[in-house]
Amino acid sequence: MSIGEAVPHESAALHVTGQALYTDDLVRSTKDVLHAWPVQAPHAHARITSLDPAPAYDVEGVVRVLTKDDVPGVNDAGTKHDEPLFPDEVMFYGHAVCWVLGETLEAARLGAAAVRVEYDPLPSLITVREAIAAESFQGARPKVARGDPEAGLAKSAHVFEGETEMAGQEHFYLETHASLALVDEGGQVFIQSSTQHPTETQEIVAHVLGLRSHEVTVQCLRMGGGFGGKEMQPHGFAAVAALGARLTGRPVRLRLNRTQDLTMTGKRHGFHATWKVGFDDDGHLLALEATLTSDGGWSLDLSEPVLSRALCHIENAYWIPDLRAHGRVAQTHKTSQTAFRGFGGPQGMLVIEDILGRCAPLLGYDAAELRHRNLYAAGQATPYGQVVRHPERLDRAWQQVLTEAEFVQRSKEIADFNASQPRVKRGLAITPVKFGISFNLTAFNQAGALVHVYKDGSVLVNHGGTEMGQGLHTKMLQVAATTLGLPEEKVRLAPTRTDKVPNTSATAASSGADLNGAAVKDACEQILARIAGVEGTTWEERVRAAYMQRIQLSAAGFYKTEGLHWDAATMSGEPFKYFAFGVAAAEVELDGSTGAYDVRRVDIVHDVGDSLSPLVDLGQIEGGFVQGAGWLTLEDLRWDESDGPDRGRLLTQAASTYKLPSLGEMPAVFNVSLLQDATETGAVYGSKAVGEPPLMLAFSVREAIRQAVAAFGPAGVSVELASPATPEAVFWAIESVRTVTHALA
Ligand code: MTE
Ligand code: HPA
Ligand code: CA
Repeated sequence: MSIGEAVPHESAALHVTGQALYTDDLVRSTKDVLHAWPVQAPHAHARITSLDPAPAYDVEGVVRVLTKDDVPGVNDAGTKHDEPLFPDEVMFYGHAVCWVLGETLEAARLGAAAVRVEYDPLPSLITVREAIAAESFQGARPKVARGDPEAGLAKSAHVFEGETEMAGQEHFYLETHASLALVDEGGQVFIQSSTQHPTETQEIVAHVLGLRSHEVTVQCLRMGGGFGGKEMQPHGFAAVAALGARLTGRPVRLRLNRTQDLTMTGKRHGFHATWKVGFDDDGHLLALEATLTSDGGWSLDLSEPVLSRALCHIENAYWIPDLRAHGRVAQTHKTSQTAFRGFGGPQGMLVIEDILGRCAPLLGYDAAELRHRNLYAAGQATPYGQVVRHPERLDRAWQQVLTEAEFVQRSKEIADFNASQPRVKRGLAITPVKFGISFNLTAFNQAGALVHVYKDGSVLVNHGGTEMGQGLHTKMLQVAATTLGLPEEKVRLAPTRTDKVPNTSATAASSGADLNGAAVKDACEQILARIAGVEGTTWEERVRAAYMQRIQLSAAGFYKTEGLHWDAATMSGEPFKYFAFGVAAAEVELDGSTGAYDVRRVDIVHDVGDSLSPLVDLGQIEGGFVQGAGWLTLEDLRWDESDGPDRGRLLTQAASTYKLPSLGEMPAVFNVSLLQDATETGAVYGSKAVGEPPLMLAFSVREAIRQAVAAFGPAGVSVELASPATPEAVFWAIESVRTVTHALA
C-alpha cells in the first residue's frame, strides 16, 4: 500500500457491507441515551414574545427542555458571534428556538410539539434581489483589482454587459448532522461529532458551556459525506448535545432527520453578478468590471472567505489585464449559507464562463476557440498578483482532451446532425479549470500528526484531518507506509480526536492530504532519524533494539505551507501554494419540445500532480464532476417567496422535491484520465489536491447545453441560460432563441 498504488478506499468493504460505523451508530452501544428534538419556528423573521416549556413536561418521557437560560457560557454557535444558539429573534423559517430531550425520539418530538412559543412576525427578505434592493448586507465588502478597467473597456473594440444569477446547492450528504455527547465523573466533556472541523467544534462547545478547551474532547470517526456542510455547521448541534449531557448527566444524542437537516443547515451560496466586459478584435479579454453579491442567509458563517475565494476565481483560467471585482454578502432570512466544495470558486468562475459562453457568438467566435485563446500563458499573474506557474500544463490537458475526445471531428458530426434534426439538437463544449490550493488565510495552512511505533513494530497513526469519504485516511496510510518502508498491515489509523492532535484546521480547501500528509511524513521521518543507527535485520528487531536503548518511538509531526502571503485588506498576495488544473469536454443532446437532455459523453484530463492514490483520485474526479453537474443542471432549491403565511419556508425539503443526480444522469460515456508528468515540487510526494477542483469541470455540461440550445436558433445567437439549467429552464431558453435573437447591449 505505497504511494501511487491504486488501492481501494480503506473502508470500502465496510461501506458496502454496512459495517462502517458513523456517529449515530454509536448510540446503540451507549447506555441511558437521551434524544434531542428541536422546536422550529414557523416564520422567516419574528421576535419571540414568549416561550413556555411547561406543557412539554406533561408529555411522558420528556426529561428536559433546553432554553437560553440554561447556557452557562456564551449563547452563540458561530465564530463571528452573530449566531445565537437559542435566539430571541427568529431569523429563518425553521430556526430552532429551543430543544427538547426525551427518553425516546418520539417523546422528544411530542415534547417539542407541546412547547408553547409566541411570535411577533417581522418583515423578511427572501431573495438576493430583495436584499440588494433593501441594501441588506453583512460583513466586509472586499475588492480584487488590477490595472485600469475603465481604460481597458474604453480601448476595447467590443464591450458587453449583463447579469448572471446562479442558485445555491444543498450538500445532501448521506449522513445528516449528528452528535453524541457524554460527560464523565470529572466533568470532562466527550463529543462524537460528524464534523469536518473537530477543533472548532471543541472551541464552540467550550464557549457555550463556559469551559476551557482542555475540558472538551471531540472525536470524528468518519462522516457519511461533508462536502463543506460540516465545516462550521456542526458546532451548534454539538453544543446542544453537550449542554444537555452536562445538565442531565446522561449521554445526549442529536441527529437531524433529513427535513430538519435541509431546513436548518446552510447550503452553497447562490450569487448574483453584474458585469461589463471588453474584448479586442481578436477575441482577447481586455477588461472586466463586476460586482458579485452572494446570498449569505441570516448570519455570516463562512460567507466572507467564500466571497474572497469567489473574487479570486472570477477570471478562472483566463488572462484579463484590467479587472475590478467588488464583492458583498447579502443578508436574507434563510439558512446561513456555508462552505460547499469549491467554496465560492465555482460561483466566481461561473461568471466568466457565462460571459464567454454568451459573448462568443456575438464576437463571431467558436466558444472553444475563444476560451483557448484567453488561457493564461507563462509569466502571467492573477489579478491578485500570484504568478500562474505551469500554465503549459493547462494547455497540455486542453490538447489532450481535444485529441482524446476527437473534439474537432465530433463538432463537425454534431453540426451535420443538428442540420438534419429539427426536434433534437446536440452540443459539445470544452472548459478549463484553474483552482487555487491552500486556505486564503495563511494561518490555517498548518497540520499536525501523532505517530506511535509500538514495541512489536506495529504503527498507529493519528492526524488532524477528518475522513468524509474522500479517501484521506487511505492516503495517510499510504504516506506512513511509504515513509517508513513498511507493508500496509503494519500500519493502522486511529479516529480523528482533538486530544491526539490539537489546534487543527478544518478538513477543507482540498488541502487535507497536502497538510496532514506532510505532517504524517514529518512524524515518520523523525522516528526513522532516531533509529537510523540501530542494528537489526528486520523492522521489528530494530524497533525492539531501539526501545532497549531508550529511544523514543513516538513522534508528533508538524507541517506548515511555506511561501504563502495574503493581505486581506488589499486582496493581494500569493495565497495559494499552487493551482490545480483540469479540462473537460461534454456532449449533450436536447429535446426541443421538452427541454430534457442527456449527457452523452464526457472526457476529462485532470491534474493531480503525481497521484498519491489513483483509484481514490479517479473517484474524486468523477464524484466532483457529477456533483458539479447536479448544481448546474438539476438541483433546484426553492423557497416560498410569496407574501403568504409560509413565506421563507424551504419548499424543497426532501429528496422527492430536490432532484439529485443519480445513475440516470451519469454520462453514458465517461472517460477520465490523470495528466501525466505533472510532479508538483514542494507538495507531499509530488501530489496535488483533488477534492474540490473537479466539481468545476461540470461547466462543460452547462456550456454544451448552451451550444445545443443555440442550434435551435439562427447562427450567432447569444443564449442566456438559467443556473440551474433544469429541463424547464432549458425549454424556455430554446423558446427564446427560436423567436428572437438576443444581442447584449
Ligand atoms: N468526497 C466525498 N466522498 N465526500 C465528501 O464529503 N468533500 C469534498 C472533497 N471530496 C467530500 C469529498 C470537499 S468539500 C473537500 S474540501 C475535500 O474532499 C476534503 O478532503 P481533502 O482535503 O482530504 O481532499
Ligand atoms: N474550500 C476552499 N477554501 C476554504 C475552505 C474550503 O472548504 N474553507 C476555508 N477556505
Ligand atoms: Ca452565511
